[in-house]
Amino acid sequence: MPHFEEGTTLDRFLLDTMRARPGATGQLVTLLKQVALAGKLVNARVQRAGLAGMLGAVGGMNIQGEYVQKLDVYANDTFKRALEHAGVCCMIVSEEDEEQMLIPADYEAGEYIFSMDPLDGSSNIDTNASIGTIFGIHRKVSAGRDGAPADVLRAGRELVCAGYVLYGAGTMLVLSTGAGVHGFTLDPSVGEFFLSHLDIRLQPSTRAYSCNEAYSAQWDPRLQAWLAGLKEPSLGWSARYIGSLVGDFHRNLVKGGVFLYPPTAKARQGKLRMLYEAQPLAFLAEAAGGAASDGHMPILDKVPTSLHERSPLYIGNAEAVARIVEVLNS
Ligand code: AHG
Ligand code: MN
Ligand code: MN
Repeated sequence: MPHFEEGTTLDRFLLDTMRARPGATGQLVTLLKQVALAGKLVNARVQRAGLAGMLGAVGGMNIQGEYVQKLDVYANDTFKRALEHAGVCCMIVSEEDEEQMLIPADYEAGEYIFSMDPLDGSSNIDTNASIGTIFGIHRKVSAGRDGAPADVLRAGRELVCAGYVLYGAGTMLVLSTGAGVHGFTLDPSVGEFFLSHLDIRLQPSTRAYSCNEAYSAQWDPRLQAWLAGLKEPSLGWSARYIGSLVGDFHRNLVKGGVFLYPPTAKARQGKLRMLYEAQPLAFLAEAAGGAASDGHMPILDKVPTSLHERSPLYIGNAEAVARIVEVLNS
């Protein structure tokens, strides 16, 4: 990889790292530039949400049976609009849409499939806490102009790229194509993302856990015992939970920690979705030297069988994830 200084623009980074790849058509660079554009548009709306009448619910439920917030709809539309005409996607999968979206006949279709959670952390929109857009990008394998579910119902290791845009105290785009994880911070005064976190590494062991502990009585008793054991004061563990997966993951990526969303009585397969939550973040975790598991196997080896499939998720420091897997299989 070429040498990059902090402060390099996202555009230059993308051009220098991706256009140089053998066989590159430039479509992935264009796709990621459109992701950055959509991220800036959503960010602008998030920043003004309290002023622009964007807080609160739309009044309906999505395919997951969850109340849809105005920003969920705005983010979903914005990412789709930014990508559909760019000639880089042949299908878009979204948490907010039951079916995959194909590219309208008026536009050229491209070679990639974009899967997204347009707005992760919806329950935190009204509270000014970190929220984000999580995405995974596959290259088409099926024949014909349009993408098909089989293009994304694949092991996460086959992702071409994954990342997220974090709308937090600062706005960041974090991405990986498998070779390292890099973070770009939006400078709102010029409207550009600049490289701020080159080659982020997930520390092998740190003592912070992120989970909705209120559900712990519903977990596997072996996991409950593991959690109880962490509370021995001499071990020095801390809890850090925002309730936005993307915010919790980002904190742990930068500072170290492990995030868990185990199965509960209400969510027997866990709550988080494979295609646009677990797989993209697992791709980033492994590229940063961390790990992600469903409690039995690496998330990246698991093949989803439907677009909105859920999975338990244990993700973060390699050591903590390995310990949880050991506990759950003891
Ligand atoms: P989304 O807002 O996309 O529906 O995702 C919410 C998810 C995730 O961000 C978070 O980790 C989890 O829901 C929190 O769930 P609990 O409220 O059950 O802790
Ligand atoms: Mn989500
Ligand atoms: Mn969402």
